[in-house]
Amino acid sequence: MKESLEEYGDSLFHEYCFRSVNKLFGIKEENMSRSLFLSFKYELGEVLRDVVSGFEGVTMGRTQYFTDCNHYGLGSRQLDKDGKPVEWQWFDETRLISSGKKKIFLSPVKPTSESSSECAGDVKMKRSRQVKSSSPPTAILTADWHIRPTAPVCRTDDFLAAMWKKVEFVLDLAVEHCCPILMAGDIGLKSQWPNWLLEEFIRKVSQKEIWGFYAIPGQHDLPNHQLNQWREAAIGVLHEAKSVIFLGTDGDGESEGIMLGEKKAFNIYFFPYGIEIKNPSDKNDLVSPPIAIAHTLVTERAPEEFLTDKARSAISLLQKFPEYNLILTGDNHKSFVVEHEGRLLVNPGSLMRTAADQVDHKPRVYLWYAQENRVEPIYLPIEEGVISRDHIDNEEEKDQRIQAYINRLSEEVEIGLSFEGNLEAYFRQNRIRKPVIDKVWASMPK
Ligand SMILES: [Fe+2]
Repeated sequence: MKESLEEYGDSLFHEYCFRSVNKLFGIKEENMSRSLFLSFKYELGEVLRDVVSGFEGVTMGRTQYFTDCNHYGLGSRQLDKDGKPVEWQWFDETRLISSGKKKIFLSPVKPTSESSSECAGDVKMKRSRQVKSSSPPTAILTADWHIRPTAPVCRTDDFLAAMWKKVEFVLDLAVEHCCPILMAGDIGLKSQWPNWLLEEFIRKVSQKEIWGFYAIPGQHDLPNHQLNQWREAAIGVLHEAKSVIFLGTDGDGESEGIMLGEKKAFNIYFFPYGIEIKNPSDKNDLVSPPIAIAHTLVTERAPEEFLTDKARSAISLLQKFPEYNLILTGDNHKSFVVEHEGRLLVNPGSLMRTAADQVDHKPRVYLWYAQENRVEPIYLPIEEGVISRDHIDNEEEKDQRIQAYINRLSEEVEIGLSFEGNLEAYFRQNRIRKPVIDKVWASMPK
């Protein structure tokens, strides 16, 4: 909606000029395009620098003039001496160069209090849960969705239907609270998804008015577990379709500014699979305590001995990186939260129960309230009795029978090189009945 009549008038004037010029060149109405105008060189959110004054800022707005020039409104990331934001400054495109700094991502829609209530009204799935905090949650924390095209062997229900139900539940939660989703990797089970799975996922996300869905790649998302191949994977398509924005993909562990919650921008440091967590590098540029998102194996307590070279305990990470208010991790499919001196490590665990040993797992996401640095688990609806151990029990039974046979052979029979000789010895020592012996010999190849 236009802000004022004056603005509306400007817009009509531009439209009139545009059509007039097209007619001048003999372009028919139906073929008119904006191609006559200079396209924008820089994207919104890019950090640019004015080569004349040295002023640097985030591209907050762009204006395209009929006189064939583009102007950019830059918002400084520094506050003035009174701690207030500096007014945007406008520059011609020819004066601007890229600062080389990371692009800023904002949530696609910045809801007002009115649109927030509309947003909540759209939610089909009602919940009886009472929100304990008076402030709205800042983000939804999640990890390890392992989206897949087939059902795992342990599931006895319609697994795919259950999987989509959970995806929709989390998306609805994001709509309900008008906050973004932050995912700590392994959105998929494999790096390549069939087309129908990609289409279905993109369709589901695009149907919801969510603030933003930001993620890092986990090893399952990457071809050959190689971060530099992420564009060749399904996550490259999700990113291009703007369903999920994958960050930290250049692997330098630098931060990205992201608008979370109502008005606050957070510096988030991204450590995809294979990238070691490190402390924040640009401390002077921070507008609030930073957050780290990592795909690395973290355990709730000290890792088991066989994991000591691969896993770290949550407390050790919190102690090693004291500057992060929140560390969100993925990889370990168990859910836990560890607090240390008011700071949190949240490992949301897997979204789906895909193995028999997850029979007691309660899939959940966490609502994070930045102001209080507190999380609240939101348990996803699950159906009981859909995880079966039959395939494991059958396998174990078979293994036990084979093992018993081998044990008896090794204990009671001296194994020789001749299979027939071994059989004869076994028959002699175990008093096998003649009809059985006859049947065995009859089945032997002549
Ligand atoms: Fe995983």
